Amino acid sequence: MDYYKQIFKRKSFHIFKDTDKLTGDEIQELRDFIKTVKPLNAEIKTEICIVPEKDTTCKRGGEFCILFYSETKDEYLRNIGYMGEQIDLYLASQNIGALWFGIGKPKDIKVNGLDYVIMISIAKMPVDKFRKDMFKSKRKPLSEIWNGDALKIAEIVRFTPSACNTQPWLVKNTGCELMVYRFKKPGKRGIMPADKVRYYNKIDMGIFLFVLETCLEHENFTYERTLFADTTDDSVERTLIAKYSYCK
Ligand SMILES: Cc1cc2nc3c(=O)[nH]c(=O)nc-3n(C[C@H](O)[C@H](O)[C@H](O)COP(=O)(O)O)c2cc1C
Repeated sequence: MDYYKQIFKRKSFHIFKDTDKLTGDEIQELRDFIKTVKPLNAEIKTEICIVPEKDTTCKRGGEFCILFYSETKDEYLRNIGYMGEQIDLYLASQNIGALWFGIGKPKDIKVNGLDYVIMISIAKMPVDKFRKDMFKSKRKPLSEIWNGDALKIAEIVRFTPSACNTQPWLVKNTGCELMVYRFKKPGKRGIMPADKVRYYNKIDMGIFLFVLETCLEHENFTYERTLFADTTDDSVERTLIAKYSYCK
């Protein structure tokens, strides 16, 4: 899977229009792909199910929803984000449109003792409906999310998707390490309640780590990843969640 290429093509299909039906083979290939997805933490039990969109509260015109269930321990939210982004990018490679859908609920909020976390709605789309020029997408300026040498990756990782486009990340490049923070401006209130924002933003950080690693690998960096627990509350602006020691 060339994940890097798909970063440029993927986009959120907030409403699915002009959809095709997924074939049985395509669904089987998706199931097979899901089995290959790498977690950030293999100690956290997860399950990923595919159900018709109509069996969920998501009504965006998708055919199916991919449901993520997890043990709710350690950093399970960013683990799901990291796994889900591999699927999001795979879907784009197969011309299957996707929408991370935080506000959705499935019929079963538990599966085999694991809790429901989030869903991605999907539908087969014509290839011309995918993103043509990623650089036109609305994102924070680079200076707000990256300090230090951009390494040709900062201008790409900027386009990582996030809940409500909040982009809760900040990277400091020290010259040999990338320090990755979850960033939340204290006191800044959006439309979502604070605990919800933190829930989604932890998923966003997992998504971001996967895109960051994809870009590092594309630029031929080798790296060693160290993860940190993300336990701060909203009084803290920057929470260090990962460190990548890198070299070329
Ligand atoms: C964790 C997560 C949850 C999201 N939840 C919703 C949602 O509930 N409803 C929705 O319309 N879009 C949702 N989105 C899509 C974002 O709004 C979208 O990714 C962001 O605006 C960036 O746009 P792009 O994905 O087209 O690059 C979600 C995205 C993420 C990553």
